[in-house]
Amino acid sequence: MTSVAPGVTRSLSLLVLHGVPLLSGLDRDELEKLSHVTGRRRAERGEFIVRAGDVADSLFILFSGSAKVLNSDDEGREVILAVLKAGEFFGEMGLIDGSPRSASVVAQETCELLVISRDDLHRCMQDNFQVALKLMQILVHRLRGADEKIESLALLDVYGRVARLMLDMSELADDGRRIIKRKISKQEMARMIGASREMVSKVVRNLENSGYIHYEGDVIVILGE
Ligand code: CMP
Repeated sequence: MTSVAPGVTRSLSLLVLHGVPLLSGLDRDELEKLSHVTGRRRAERGEFIVRAGDVADSLFILFSGSAKVLNSDDEGREVILAVLKAGEFFGEMGLIDGSPRSASVVAQETCELLVISRDDLHRCMQDNFQVALKLMQILVHRLRGADEKIESLALLDVYGRVARLMLDMSELADDGRRIIKRKISKQEMARMIGASREMVSKVVRNLENSGYIHYEGDVIVILGE
């Protein structure tokens, strides 16, 4: 990972901090204070920003690009726990409980990040209850997402899991259609739902043949919900 903190204007950090939901409870002065202690990092596609098991010393705020949170076993098999987008953060778990990193985080495309040290995050949370509350709310939201994932692994077959994943990734387009804009491979989908790539390919083909989805280039249009 390339460290680019020196020479980068603080006003850019301030601008970025303004748009981060975690920090929405901070006023301008507090954001300004925080901008003095944030570093900046850049990670290229495929680069590990955080490795599972490492000592946790910083929180990362993603302000451009996207990153995968994943875990893998000794044979290199991977499970993708989440995909994080601009405005989201990671690395808070190790800072809260002092344990090693719970998962690896890998840049899915070039990522620009702000970095806040453990001490600065703790100070910020201590001084601003709104930040601590927001952090708890976001953690609860992630826990709900993890509960849903456990539920679908236990109760849904691969067909149901693919359908749920597609709905979760979809958004309503301006023309009222439900679409998935993000380009996603069958392998990646398989890693997100704990299935084989072959099985996911079969289910996607089946959904397409049955008229539930269709591809327009890289965009998937969901026709029936
Ligand atoms: P930490 O354990 O310090 O390092 C890995 C990070 O991945 C972790 O903090 C969280 O920020 C993030 N992470 C782990 N599990 C999930 C999840 N299920 N959803 C979103 N982010 C996660």
